[in-house]
Amino acid sequence: MSEATQIVAIDGPAGAGKSTVAKRVAKELGFAFLDTGAMYRAATWRALKHTIDLDDPQALAASTEAMNLVLEETPGGQRVVVDGEDVAKVIRTPEVTRLIFKLDQNSAVRRSLVGLQRRFGENQPTVAEGRDVGTVVFPKAKCKIFLDASLECRTQRRAEDLRKAGQPVDLDQLRADIHERDEKARNRADSPLRQADDAVLVDTSNLTIDEVVAELARLARERL
Ligand code: DC
Repeated sequence: MSEATQIVAIDGPAGAGKSTVAKRVAKELGFAFLDTGAMYRAATWRALKHTIDLDDPQALAASTEAMNLVLEETPGGQRVVVDGEDVAKVIRTPEVTRLIFKLDQNSAVRRSLVGLQRRFGENQPTVAEGRDVGTVVFPKAKCKIFLDASLECRTQRRAEDLRKAGQPVDLDQLRADIHERDEKARNRADSPLRQADDAVLVDTSNLTIDEVVAELARLARERL
């Protein structure tokens, strides 16, 4: 199976709707869903759990390398299992979100997670979403999408997700955090967030989820 023919690569900033949409497109195409952000979250959660010095790049790389990570879609939602523990919920806490940059700017951490992502995609037809999926992880993917939306729109969506998860929401703080994460992702030296030259830009600000899913499924069928 060739990765060039079996991958839908979706990149974009936080809150553009990548996860929700990618999951549904995967279901519609009968492909597996790969949430690469969950992997950076899992690696960050593990480093915190083992009280690793977040300013020690080698220790972070070693922790990521040692991590036993399983991602699984179940009827009840996505399972993210780290060293036998289901961490799907705890990797979404603001503490983890705030500290991910310590790992996602670390080239050795990225290499290790990109290796896992490529293996996942080689083993099954996959809809993968993240920040560097079309540019670095699967550069030969035939269907690449860059999902974007205005900062305000992304802030409101993330707020809704947090509310649903029963977590407190401070809109101004959330907006500032999302903006800061955008800047960090776009300006980092290794694998910065950017639209691949051959990716299709889809702005989701004024589209419903159903409309975005339909457009992406159409693009996937056209290109794969
Ligand atoms: O999509 P998300 O918010 O769950 O991603 C969490 C963080 O992981 C995000 O701040 C940037 C980082 N990330 C990355 O550097 N590369 C990816 N392919 C996916 C996520």
